Amino acid sequence: MSSIKKKIVFLGGSSVGKSSILLRFTNNQFQEGQEPNVGASFLTKELSIENLKYKLQIWDTAGQERYSSMAPMYYRSASGAIIVYDITDSESFITAKKWVKELQQMGPIDVKMAIVGNKVDLSNDRQVSIEEVKEYAESSGALFFETSAKTGKNVYELFRQLLTHLPKT
Ligand code: GTP
Repeated sequence: MSSIKKKIVFLGGSSVGKSSILLRFTNNQFQEGQEPNVGASFLTKELSIENLKYKLQIWDTAGQERYSSMAPMYYRSASGAIIVYDITDSESFITAKKWVKELQQMGPIDVKMAIVGNKVDLSNDRQVSIEEVKEYAESSGALFFETSAKTGKNVYELFRQLLTHLPKT
């Protein structure tokens, strides 16, 4: 059986946990003090969901503002976009909304977006409410998850659901 190839891109502000979600998903690991990305990194991951074999190409972009002009190179031709913010940092949700808008205006026409509030293990320090993002995600046609790269909560589920929303070709 040949595999379904999909390109997925991670977007979002700095230090929200993009690389950490990816490391949890690909290696089931977590690192305190994960280093900031420079530019972007790329990896592939194969997995099966509901008897379908997927081969993912995943681009992890750098969240620091000075790299944001490079993002179009990475989201161009992406099937899925994972836009991450940190639930303990309201500023990072504002940044996430900017990425949603940019994708809507400049991204591939049929890109499926997932908005992801990471670091839910730190919910005592929560600054962004679930209700606010849920409503925003619905109005933007995006999926919504809260994850923790640290505990692994919802990380696999995020990929599983995003993939089931993509065309099976
Ligand atoms: P850039 O490379 O700058 O874009 O950052 P990033 O979004 O890739 O964030 P990164 O994965 O480097 O994580 C930033 C910091 O947050 C690191 O110290 C991580 O250990 C920490 N971190 C990431 N995810 C979680 C999480 O779910 N919970 C907690 N408590 N810390 C996390």
